[in-house]
Amino acid sequence: MPQQNPFQDPLRFERRVPPCAVVIFGANGDLTKRKLLPALYRLAYDRRLAPGFAIVGTSRTILTDDQFRDKMKDAVAAFSEDTKLDEDLWKTFAEGLHYVAGDLGDVALFQRIGEKLAQIDQSRQTGGNVLFYLSTQPSQYALAAQGIGAAGLQHGAGWRRLVVEKPFGHDLASARELSDRLHEVFDESAIFRIDHYLGKETVQNILAFRFGNGIFEPLWNRRYINHVEITAAESIGVEGRGAYYQEAGALADMIQNHLLQVMATIAMEPCASFRATSVRDERSKLLRSMKPMTPDEIRQNAVAGQYGPARIGGGDVPGFRQEPGVNPASTTDTYAAVTLCVENWRWAGVPFYVRTGKRLPKRVTEIAIHFNQAPLAMFDGEMADGTPNLLIVRIQPEEGISLKFLSKRPGAGMKLRPVSMDFNYGSSFGERSPSAYETLLLDALLDDATLYTRQDMVEASWAVVEPIQNVWREESVDFPNYAAGTWGPDAADAMLARRGHIWRKP
Ligand code: BG6
Repeated sequence: MPQQNPFQDPLRFERRVPPCAVVIFGANGDLTKRKLLPALYRLAYDRRLAPGFAIVGTSRTILTDDQFRDKMKDAVAAFSEDTKLDEDLWKTFAEGLHYVAGDLGDVALFQRIGEKLAQIDQSRQTGGNVLFYLSTQPSQYALAAQGIGAAGLQHGAGWRRLVVEKPFGHDLASARELSDRLHEVFDESAIFRIDHYLGKETVQNILAFRFGNGIFEPLWNRRYINHVEITAAESIGVEGRGAYYQEAGALADMIQNHLLQVMATIAMEPCASFRATSVRDERSKLLRSMKPMTPDEIRQNAVAGQYGPARIGGGDVPGFRQEPGVNPASTTDTYAAVTLCVENWRWAGVPFYVRTGKRLPKRVTEIAIHFNQAPLAMFDGEMADGTPNLLIVRIQPEEGISLKFLSKRPGAGMKLRPVSMDFNYGSSFGERSPSAYETLLLDALLDDATLYTRQDMVEASWAVVEPIQNVWREESVDFPNYAAGTWGPDAADAMLARRGHIWRKP
């Protein structure tokens, strides 16, 4: 079929999903409860789903349809942050909820799912359209895809798509291996690799901000931008996910995926159109413009940290090694800071400082773009604390954009002081923002992959991250090297100081 202009398709224009079923693997897990069901319920609440919409949950736990419905109702009530559970709507929604128990290694499970889908198709006219969602342990992704393939569920009367959650492998080789297994069953165009940061309103707004306005683009390059900081700080620890987290670490858990995607959005070239392929091609090209570092460069440009115990606000906070499920001698990074350089004409020589960590002083995700100084310092007080012109894109918790500049203080003389021009999402729009999962699920159901990662991007990101992991593994740092509740190890400050910069305190 020739590719249509997505903005002329009435279904997409209204953002309404055609009749279909979603099969969730790992339906008894945390993600299903906390994110997927609340997001799907909200889509129903907003009348974006067709009346015949259905969900088939599957996992090893034995449950009847009714037990599954009850669990999901509790989940929606507990985790829908700003949507009240409407009893009438829930009743209709729950009629489309079904459950099939079984083991992913057993082909009979997939046959049973196939039979269930056929029944649903008959009773609810889903047109054979199915979205499979892998929300299992990552080690089971390939097995689940294989089962779908063995039962022939990847083909049918309607469309068939697959959504996969991160992590996409734990290094370049395993990412390729996973992709090969998925490609045995699904074409790349039917695979939706989710990165929930791309679904955040403020990350999408970066595109609107950059390409919808004429005034910023001329400044968006090495001539005017001095350096860029991307920070994703969390105040929480590993919250019961110690066993998973100690295998991943901050670099793989946040930078390899979320923050490199954010960086690609900030730094990519303008795309020819807002079709999925054009946008993803530009993101991918940007990621491929980062040259993997040598071990010597890594020692200068990457810092690992792990939090130790501390006393915060009158309470004792355990160190990472004391968290449940964590090896008391673990060398996993709970903090990672990296200086990345994009080797293209726009960005050559501009450092991108990217950092993330658990148990930092507060939860904040922001991008700080530091512009060059004025050619001459002519006024008192100017440049006392770094570059005066700073553009801050706040992704969370208070979404907005601020531009900082110097202004004359009232009174005699020419004394300057930094001031701020602020845009705040909440007060400007006063509307609820959809959650990232609502946006992304809706997109996958409408076959819009613009905000999804693609295999070439996954590989490009691993090509940058894997050499860092390798050096960190060989030269273990003396952990813990920052106390819970502080801004990370001193070595991260020293990394910026080498280029004459300091981290912003958000
Ligand atoms: C997940 C990571 O992908 O993103 C978590 O695995 C992290 O460790 C989370 O806490 C952060 O997401 P958000 O949307 O809360 O910033």
